[in-house]
Amino acid sequence: MRDKIGIYIHIPFCESKCFYCDFCSSSSSNESTVQAYIESLIEEILSQSEMLSEYNIDTIYIGGGTPSFIDAKYIKDVMQVLFASSSVLEDAEITIEVNPESCTLEKLKTYKEIGINRISVGLQTIHDNILQNIGRKAKFNDFKIAYDNILKAGFENISVDLMCGLPGDNKQTFNETIQYILSLDKLKHISVYSLEVHENTKLDFLIENGFVSLPSEDEERDMKHALDESLEQNGFYLYEISNYAKQGFESKHNLKYWNSNYYIGFGCAAASYINSTRYCNTKSIEEYIQNGSKCNKSEIEQLDLLDLEKEFVILSLRLSKGIDKLEFSNRFKIDIWDMFKEELNKCIKDGLLEENKTNIYLTKRGQDLANIVWQQFI
Ligand SMILES: C[S@@+](CC[C@H](N)C(=O)[O-])C[C@H]1O[C@@H](n2cnc3c(N)ncnc32)[C@H](O)[C@@H]1O
Ligand code: SF4
Repeated sequence: MRDKIGIYIHIPFCESKCFYCDFCSSSSSNESTVQAYIESLIEEILSQSEMLSEYNIDTIYIGGGTPSFIDAKYIKDVMQVLFASSSVLEDAEITIEVNPESCTLEKLKTYKEIGINRISVGLQTIHDNILQNIGRKAKFNDFKIAYDNILKAGFENISVDLMCGLPGDNKQTFNETIQYILSLDKLKHISVYSLEVHENTKLDFLIENGFVSLPSEDEERDMKHALDESLEQNGFYLYEISNYAKQGFESKHNLKYWNSNYYIGFGCAAASYINSTRYCNTKSIEEYIQNGSKCNKSEIEQLDLLDLEKEFVILSLRLSKGIDKLEFSNRFKIDIWDMFKEELNKCIKDGLLEENKTNIYLTKRGQDLANIVWQQFI
């Protein structure tokens, strides 16, 4: 029986650059660059077909950037090559990230035809003034049209991305966003990311120069708590620090990251984790196009045992169920308490972690102060 593995495919193109974003994406590429990029992507997948044939693929995640920005024929080409050069399981979860302004009914129908069965759509907030503050291309009305199209195309497994702590947002406006998304048909999954302000982004400049301001940490925490309550009352449970799902609709692909399972990434800036080794492709679109398969998996980080143990702890603690103590001792042949006695005791004493028979997990306070917990294990 072959081991299972997930595949990530990066599409680094967007219509425009959101003010907060530092993901690998270009908003100034023309059609010939997109075409050349897809050719390199296909070359990279083919160059790995021997390795791929050793595994069964149970998840594929097409992310970005904005995969829906490019012509759906490119996504079709890539998927055809992937299906032909690997063994994708019948019930594999296959997700594509889409943005409201570019996911037309026609594109969505193509995604459905080629086997994509999960859509992740970025809304962030329903308030146009806040969308404008963060440089989003789509207005709320574009989202409504897009969501309608997603349903019309027949998708049943839909996830929406929101952001918390945005400039101009407050408890009331955030609550209006939550109430709206709870009214959506067939919504199975919600990601809510706390805004991260990265250096040298336009948002950083706007904040530094007083053009926009952010809600306070306390306000943001209140919003998050109200969110937890509303979503729980409506059948969504928090299974990861930023992710809620209806039972059985957790993101199988993202669970691979948090469970320290193996995945292979294709495309520029794509990360892979196989045989205790992390790889990352070049972050330059130009270099990726020029070198094709030759520059893939160029940055290599071989993790030693201690790195693996610490990483397992940090990633597991992101999950509501926390660290599975038996899984830790099976993987590392040592009891977690023998390995991290001091760190665990400190976090438990500070009310950040709790333990039951099988697991160690973040308390509510620990979820609010997760960074303090991570510090113990870095
Ligand atoms: C990288 S985007 C890719 C998908 C798509 N282009 C979009 O914008 O929805 C995926 C999600 O990451 C989140 N994100 C990106 N940059 C972020 C930041 N600086 N802070 C918090 N969340 C961020 C947004 O919620 C976004 O929906
Ligand atoms: S659309 Fe998504 S990937 Fe593109 S700039 Fe905005 S947040 Fe980043």
